[in-house]
Amino acid sequence: MSASSMLRHFFSIADLRKEEIEDMLDRAARLCSVGPMGTEMAGKVVGLCFFQESTRTRVGFDAAVKRLGGSTVIVTEAREVQRAPSPESLEDTIRAVSGYCDMIVMRHAETPALHAAMRASVAPVINAGCGCEHHPTQALLDLFHIKNRFGRLEGLRIGLVGDLCTSRAARSLLQTMRHWPPAELRLMAPPGREATGEALLHVAKSSVSVYPELIAADLDVLYVAGMPNPESEPCFSLELRKRFTVYRETLEALPSHGIIMCPLPRIDEIAVDVDQSRHATYFEQSDNALWARMAALLFQYGRCKQ
Ligand code: CP
Repeated sequence: MSASSMLRHFFSIADLRKEEIEDMLDRAARLCSVGPMGTEMAGKVVGLCFFQESTRTRVGFDAAVKRLGGSTVIVTEAREVQRAPSPESLEDTIRAVSGYCDMIVMRHAETPALHAAMRASVAPVINAGCGCEHHPTQALLDLFHIKNRFGRLEGLRIGLVGDLCTSRAARSLLQTMRHWPPAELRLMAPPGREATGEALLHVAKSSVSVYPELIAADLDVLYVAGMPNPESEPCFSLELRKRFTVYRETLEALPSHGIIMCPLPRIDEIAVDVDQSRHATYFEQSDNALWARMAALLFQYGRCKQ
């Protein structure tokens, strides 16, 4: 494998054309109907480089590669981890690992680190989540789940609740709404944690409403982005967290067809007894991620062969 400045990386869902996303959604649907074993990636090795914690994305990609006949190598060393006699740079780690792999899937807490890794890599990179901004395969699997449930993506009444400023899942989903405008976009966030203007750049202002609490009435989709971990950000009081939490009583306001989605992991943003409700679809959403991630791998693999 040789270094190439022509490598195409999958950094943000905003970088893709509507037709490219639709192709992936169609492919995910075909994979879902056929079943989870394929040979499209037989003989290929994917490096899973996770420098920030993950369960679903890391294990989901691992399973997706293997379901397509490929294999994985796992890199979890953090650049910040002290290694005697001297720590290696992230760029050097990625350059070395990418030399053994056909593709890299990478997560990092800082967006500039993803950019640096993409410059250093000699294999195409899929962003598995970085900073507060980008989680493109989460957006893809969210769209896949919504389309499965409603048969369409546009014209829905969608509510996003939680810390919409730092949730890369919520922000990535917002980035797709220029392609499939919602009938209503209800943004429910604590003061100072609203979605920024940039995230709403391509959404019709007339469809957007903003609330400092959770209001579930009339929503087709209630997307629970969650609040920051109270251990890392104790500034939010319990009272304030409760204003953005889904309880059994919250469900009474949802229409009978309304669904609750959540990227997970859950801390306390959805009460556990909500799981038994027909509205709760977040574990099904998590299951559906397999097809979306298989489709993302094949999309990325396909366009790098062009
Ligand atoms: N939704 C999501 O990214 O989950 P993980 O952090 O477990 O990968």
